[in-house]
Amino acid sequence: MTVPATDWTETISADEPERHERFADSIVTLQTRISAKRGPGRAFHRKPVAALAGRLIVPEVLPEYARHGLFAEPGEYEVLVRMSNGAVIPQPDALPDIRGFALSVRGLDAPGALGQRTDRQDFLLINMPAFGFEDSQDFADIVGPAARGQVALLRFLIEKYGLVKGPLEMAQLVAAQARPFSGFATADFHSCAPVAWGPYAAHMHVKPRGAGRNLLAWRDWGADIQQRLAKGALRWDLQAQFYTDPERTPIEDGRKIWKAPKLTVGNLVLDSLADAEVVEADRFDPWSAVAEHRPLGEIMRARKAAYFPSYRNRT
Ligand code: HEM
Repeated sequence: MTVPATDWTETISADEPERHERFADSIVTLQTRISAKRGPGRAFHRKPVAALAGRLIVPEVLPEYARHGLFAEPGEYEVLVRMSNGAVIPQPDALPDIRGFALSVRGLDAPGALGQRTDRQDFLLINMPAFGFEDSQDFADIVGPAARGQVALLRFLIEKYGLVKGPLEMAQLVAAQARPFSGFATADFHSCAPVAWGPYAAHMHVKPRGAGRNLLAWRDWGADIQQRLAKGALRWDLQAQFYTDPERTPIEDGRKIWKAPKLTVGNLVLDSLADAEVVEADRFDPWSAVAEHRPLGEIMRARKAAYFPSYRNRT
């Protein structure tokens, strides 16, 4: 039996603050280059798909270990969601891409993950069950070559991994992006990186409830969402997957898909379009979090250095 455990640990290396700053600088440099041609926008997840508003309902009955932070008491909160395509440049919806689901729970007043008080709890999710990179260095290595195109990326991977493993890594990256995506109302999304849950730790997921497939959604993901919304509210289960042990649920390896049961900790109901301009100008960030859901692990710490400079560089 796998049971939630509190013996998780983070591995923090002495050189990482400097590495994270360097990575954030290179992300901003790339963003500036793209913004010069395309206008201001996010460094990643530049293309918005939909901006939605609704509520998160935390149920009456949850097991004791799940009753922490936002989920300590039953309740109802206003939420905003920004759905996006992940690429550094805006591209047609039909092209393979990572898809983003940024959920922001509003109206809080609690000690924040960065030491101040916070009025929001953000969870950033993608449609992949794992991030695909072991750590931020692994990710940083490919961001530049990937932005220059497939040939540059392949050349870089052959240099890094050799003639045999390089093309295999390339095939894996291409396959990961090209995995079937049925639409924002029908696909599962995953945090791929852990947050604290009081004394526990967890990955987050959203799982659609009751939405039927639209086989033409790929033509325009946003139109699919808007058509569905015109007929009624969209619903998801918000799920937490608790850390149980370092093998099944590693805190530090972004390539591993966590193997542990998922527990529904909230019901997400999105019933209206939000003001798209306001949501576009907003700043979704895993570190906009309550202290009890502090982001964990090296990948999350790298994100602490990157999101604010990207925000500043687009306003
Ligand atoms: C070292 C790893 C990562 C770095 C450096 C990074 C960096 C960034 C940056 C700079 C942005 C744009 C921020 C802005 O201008 O507001 C962004 C957006 C985003 N990232 Fe990450 N990211 C990382 C990992 C992840 C992971 C693991 C996920 C989720 C599984 C994720 C999901 C998202 C989403 C959904 C957005 C769009 C947010 C929005 O809609 O405003 N990222 N990321």
